[in-house]
Amino acid sequence: MRFWAMVARESDGGVVLAREEVGDDFLGPGTVTIKVHYSSANFKDGLAITPGGGVVREYPIIPGIDITGEVVSSEDPGFAPGDPVIAHGYDIGVSHNGGFAEYARVPADWVVKLDGLTMREAAAIGTAGFTAALSVQELLDRGLTPGSGPVLVTGATGGVGTVAVDILAGLGFEVVASTGKTDAGELLSTLGAKSVIGRLPEDPEAKIRPLGKATWAGAVDSVGGKSLAYVLSTIAYGGAAAISGLTGGAALPTTVMPFILRGVALLGVDSAHYPIARRRTLWSRLGKDLKPQHLSALENQSPITEAESILNSIRSGHHSGRTILTVAGEF
Ligand SMILES: NC(=O)c1ccc[n+]([C@@H]2O[C@H](COP(=O)([O-])OP(=O)(O)OC[C@H]3O[C@@H](n4cnc5c(N)ncnc54)[C@H](OP(=O)(O)O)[C@@H]3O)[C@@H](O)[C@H]2O)c1
Repeated sequence: MRFWAMVARESDGGVVLAREEVGDDFLGPGTVTIKVHYSSANFKDGLAITPGGGVVREYPIIPGIDITGEVVSSEDPGFAPGDPVIAHGYDIGVSHNGGFAEYARVPADWVVKLDGLTMREAAAIGTAGFTAALSVQELLDRGLTPGSGPVLVTGATGGVGTVAVDILAGLGFEVVASTGKTDAGELLSTLGAKSVIGRLPEDPEAKIRPLGKATWAGAVDSVGGKSLAYVLSTIAYGGAAAISGLTGGAALPTTVMPFILRGVALLGVDSAHYPIARRRTLWSRLGKDLKPQHLSALENQSPITEAESILNSIRSGHHSGRTILTVAGEF
């Protein structure tokens, strides 16, 4: 079989992403073969085409950490031709060829059958939206309810941020969206944010005090760094922050004070190796009680051949929401 793919190759110290016709050897090991309808643009895909990005071990690779499409063949009885599915995480798009291609092959225990979501909706949610749902689930499991008080979402216009705002508002939480984009108020209000504030701390040079004014019942944070240190110092007694990212930095210059004096919990969120049984359950909830209500407002759509320019806008921090990359019929 020969098919079209966007292949990332190292060249002159850089990484070039180009359209290529490839053969079966690019399908990789696995038991489920998927005709890809959509992939999407994630922060990690941007790293995959960044020299020294730290996520791809070996080039060439077909990037695309999200694969959404229909099963064409399966050696596993759990899947049949025509099943609409999503596969993301594990090694996909970083050390196992991913979704930027007409076909993908993965192990059956990486695959989720869609329930209550179209392929397009699942692609709009993708890894970033799944991470948002995982963050919300962590806060709910911790006992947070809409009556607990306001919930902060940082990096609010990002993939994780927009879907988190949408899900939390849909559940009835008072959501405060923190963003560095001055023109994002309308989008974030449409998604259900009660108020929109700038990045935190307001003064980026300010020294973070061990404890600040207790403000948030909870937080969904994909920014990390000094911003997260500030957020932790302003979480109210018994609150929690579900954290997943590092767009603002990997260091966390905090103290033990929020934890030992206010009982604040730091809830780590990892979507990549989240166990498959729980992954399938959470995707099923994404089609039901956690379904984002405003996907059409937060999604953009581009042909897969424009992946590089979309990923460049993610890398430069100018991207908003989620971009679906249409694969079927676009090569
Ligand atoms: N743990 C996991 O399983 C998991 C899964 C998915 C993503 N992630 C991580 O989560 C983070 C966000 O991913 P994403 O897909 O949402 O990325 P994204 O769509 O690129 O959004 C990131 C957002 O972070 C904010 N931001 C960018 N640069 C910043 C800076 N220097 N300081 C503060 N805020 C900044 C921006 O929001 P505003 O302009 O609105 O402030 C931007 O839109 C990434 O670090 C990614 O690797 C982790």
